[in-house]
Amino acid sequence: MNPSRLLYLAIGALALSLVAAPRYAQAQGRVTLDSSYGCVSCHAEHRQSFIAGIHSEWGMRCHDCHGGDPTAFEIASGHRQPFLGNPNKRETVQLCASCHSDPNQMRQYGLPADQLAEFRTSRHGELLLARGIDDGPGCTDCHDAHTILPPDDARSDVHPTNISATCAVCHDDAEMMGPYGIPVDQFETYRASAHGVSLYEKGNYASPTCVNCHGSHAALPAPPGEVPNVCGQCHVLVRQEFFEGPHGDGALEGEIPGCLACHSQHGTEHIPAESVQATCRECHETGTPEDVMAGKLQETLVQAEQDLEEASHSIDELVRHGRDVTSARLRFRTAKANQLQLTLVQHSLDTLRIEDLSRRVRSTSRGIQEMAEVSTEHRWEHKLMTIPVWFLALAVVFFSAVKLSGVRRTYE
Ligand code: HEC
Ligand code: HEC
Ligand code: HEC
Ligand code: HEC
Ligand code: HEC
Ligand code: HEC
Ligand code: HEC
Ligand code: HEC
Ligand code: HEC
Repeated sequence: MNPSRLLYLAIGALALSLVAAPRYAQAQGRVTLDSSYGCVSCHAEHRQSFIAGIHSEWGMRCHDCHGGDPTAFEIASGHRQPFLGNPNKRETVQLCASCHSDPNQMRQYGLPADQLAEFRTSRHGELLLARGIDDGPGCTDCHDAHTILPPDDARSDVHPTNISATCAVCHDDAEMMGPYGIPVDQFETYRASAHGVSLYEKGNYASPTCVNCHGSHAALPAPPGEVPNVCGQCHVLVRQEFFEGPHGDGALEGEIPGCLACHSQHGTEHIPAESVQATCRECHETGTPEDVMAGKLQETLVQAEQDLEEASHSIDELVRHGRDVTSARLRFRTAKANQLQLTLVQHSLDTLRIEDLSRRVRSTSRGIQEMAEVSTEHRWEHKLMTIPVWFLALAVVFFSAVKLSGVRRTYE
């Protein structure tokens, strides 16, 4: 355990004894969840799950949510009114909100008090609270009822590595989603996308989960005009270039679904340079000026990739020749950086800058190829130089053989 965590625990314990414990203790006169606490003498399994969560750490007890009398050891008196048995989703939202929507209670923990307010604005909240339908989530579908943990705890259902699977419990359920006409492929598609692979396989927390794009308590699909901003939270440069280009205004007016004109929302596929024109033809007919431009763009992007590939082969060749490739590798990195920049800048469809970057990729790659060509020439020169040496050696062998046979004949 590192010192800062210990310090945090110590401060937590102190705060608990000063703030939380007296408040909850005042209510019933005791705070331990041992055999003196009536509820857990009968509900042992709930004790197990509850003490693993953060609420019990802060001194909260069963009766703070369920009421009843924790000093009693019989059902009738234990469940004495006011008693909240097994709260339904709506009652649960009210229960959680009784503390979490009260800024005066939450301020001391540095927690926002906006979850219910946000939830009301979501499709989920509307379904549950305005239409009274239970299909969507209440607070405990995402947080559990008893083992509630902070989002940064890896065991929590809302931790970045778990939250998408939490959403998928319902969003993968065709029977539940059928009546709403909502497809059920989001998790599977996202999981296989660069975003999913990056999070789950490379452990890259900079990658989005469902809630980075939809919001957590306020989960909604982004309207088309907002999509570039949703993606632009992370793809800052692409967003900037996109709005400099001709599609930016169309996106703001909702004519074009922003980034989704070319990438899909959950697959967010890489578009290979060879299929750029085909992508544009989804909207621009063959032969229009836009299509001609798409053709040129495709050519430029394909060319840049080829240039890089050839440069990479040249480096392999230099290695085979036993040359020092430090400088070639540095140049290659520059060309690669320019090519990546080209991938981003092309979102502006600004021909001048696109041409400029592709020229830079080209000339750097040419430089590397020339290094390899020079090296190959030198190798040939080297080989040619050795011809007279071989010739001489052969001549020596030949004449000695002739001489030897002459000597042998003399003695016969
Ligand atoms: C003597 C044992 C006993 C004690 C003490 C006891 N319970 Fe129960 N509790 C039960 C049993 C048995 C059930 C299931 C039968 C029922 O619903 O009445 C139950 C059901 C519940 C339920 C679910 C109610 C529902 O409608 O499904 C909750 C919540 C609950 N208890 C909370 C508490 C709390 C909180 C305390 C302490 C303040 C407590 N119990 C004390 C035995 C006990
Ligand atoms: C933060 C509020 C909260 C606290 C504290 C709490 N519960 Fe619950 N409990 C709930 C909610 C909400 C439900 C409704 C079920 C759900 O949403 O999953 C529930 C359901 C139950 C049920 C019935 C459903 C089931 O899971 O069998 C029992 C029994 C129960 N709680 C017992 C307890 C006991 C015992 C404790 C203390 C160790 C406790 N609860 C502490 C909120 C709480
Ligand atoms: C009696 C008041 C109270 C009730 C009721 C209550 N909570 Fe809490 N909750 C707290 C306190 C106090 C904390 C600890 C603050 C902290 O984490 O530092 C907390 C912490 C949390 C956290 C962790 C926050 C974090 O980032 O540390 C979550 C999530 C949470 N509660 C969800 C719920 C849910 C869901 C319900 C309803 C089932 C609920 N709470 C009911 C008082 C309450
Ligand atoms: C659809 C899933 C979902 C539902 C429903 C949900 N939450 Fe959350 N909650 C999350 C996620 C995900 C986080 C992690 C932080 C984030 O992304 O906002 C979170 C974080 C929290 C936190 C920590 C502080 C914060 O806001 O970041 C609290 C407290 C909390 N939720 C309480 C609630 C309460 C109360 C409800 C019911 C009104 C609720 N949640 C309903 C998914 C949900
Ligand atoms: C308990 C089940 C359940 C869970 C868990 C759940 N959802 Fe939903 N969600 C639904 C239902 C049901 C609807 C349909 C509501 C409607 O259309 O009125 C819905 C609707 C949506 C919509 C609107 C889709 C549309 O086209 O209108 C989005 C976006 C969404 N959910 C995202 C999420 C995210 C993100 C999570 C996880 C943080 C999540 N959901 C967790 C049940 C769930
Ligand atoms: C990279 C951002 C991003 C991620 C990650 C993401 N979504 Fe979406 N999602 C979107 C966008 C953008 C839309 C389309 C909005 C529109 O049509 O205007 C969408 C649409 C949806 C819809 C509406 C129906 C549909 O499929 O088009 C649902 C439901 C949904 N997402 C749920 C989820 C769930 C569940 C997850 C996690 C498994 C998730 N999303 C992850 C961006 C994302
Ligand atoms: C929370 C940050 C975040 C958000 C929001 C986000 N992305 Fe990403 N995106 C990333 C990261 C990080 C990577 C790099 C993944 C890797 O390769 O490790 C990435 C990679 C990509 C790639 C490259 C795919 C590939 O195969 O190389 C595309 C395309 C992409 N994102 C499009 C989008 C679109 C479109 C949206 C909005 C619907 C979006 N992203 C929203 C962080 C984000
Ligand atoms: C008009 C079509 C189009 C639109 C609209 C579009 N992109 Fe792209 N995007 C592409 C093409 C084509 C490439 C690949 C260029 C290449 O191969 O060099 C690309 C590449 C990318 C990459 C680089 C990763 C990779 O796949 O190599 C990211 C990240 C990205 N786009 C994100 C976005 C975001 C975010 C938006 C919205 C702000 C957006 N795109 C809008 C066509 C588009
Ligand atoms: C989803 C449909 C869609 C796709 C895909 C698409 N465009 Fe467009 N494009 C449009 C629309 C609609 C406009 C008109 C925008 C406006 O007027 O605000 C437009 C405008 C343009 C313009 C400006 C035309 C003018 O007269 O100013 C150019 C250039 C262009 N697109 C090129 C491309 C290229 C290149 C691609 C592929 C990389 C592409 N577009 C992909 C829908 C699309």
